[in-house]
Amino acid sequence: MYRQYLRERENMSSGGKLKVLLILGSIRDGRQGLRVAKFMRRKLEERNFDVKFFYPVEMKFPLITQPVHFYGPERKGAPAILVENEKFVKDADAYVIVSAEYNHNVPPALTNLLDAFPCSAYSYKPSGLVCYSMGQFGGMRAAMALRAITGELGCLSVSNIFGIPTVQNAFDEEGNPKNDHMESGAKKMLDQLEWMATAMKNHREKVGVPS
Ligand SMILES: Cc1cc2nc3c(=O)[nH]c(=O)nc-3n(C[C@H](O)[C@H](O)[C@H](O)COP(=O)(O)O)c2cc1C
Repeated sequence: MYRQYLRERENMSSGGKLKVLLILGSIRDGRQGLRVAKFMRRKLEERNFDVKFFYPVEMKFPLITQPVHFYGPERKGAPAILVENEKFVKDADAYVIVSAEYNHNVPPALTNLLDAFPCSAYSYKPSGLVCYSMGQFGGMRAAMALRAITGELGCLSVSNIFGIPTVQNAFDEEGNPKNDHMESGAKKMLDQLEWMATAMKNHREKVGVPS
């Protein structure tokens, strides 16, 4: 059944590639997160998704003092970086969030980025969590916190979380995996995300979303 779905998935959506916003939360000097994001970007592109990468360091994303929707419906006076990037958040059909674990929680640069945009930009779409740490638990405590955050944003995460323990040994600098678990872990999560994103996109297009 699922194989049949895979064969037919090109025809499942009412049109176009699925748009995925890949978000990396880490800005730390010497960050491991970029390796993970590079790997995930390749996995998403292999599935023929249209990928936009939100990388706070490269974007020079500021510490926000006001989310973009607090500037009113016209976004009057809002910093250009918020207005321009709100479009990508709104346009996405799904989100892949790559997160480290800081003090058993979500790194502040990630919540700073997520909080900059309104729930309405994220809602009625799925997210997939990719968490990592240098220890044995693979960032799972941050993943649990992200479950709550994505629930509130309206892009609740799919059940399969891709957790990466000892991230420093899992990838080279270009994001090439050093063991087979990375491929299978990404696949399990992305299979669910693709299914949910396709179903939700079709339903949004058919009936819209509650106002
Ligand atoms: C402020 C801070 C807090 C951390 N807290 C945790 C933690 O609670 N659990 C854990 O497994 N690792 C923790 N670590 C270690 C991270 O897993 C490790 O540094 C990882 O590489 C962070 O991701 P990054 O390299 O992309 O910044 C912490 C690191 C920092 C900088």
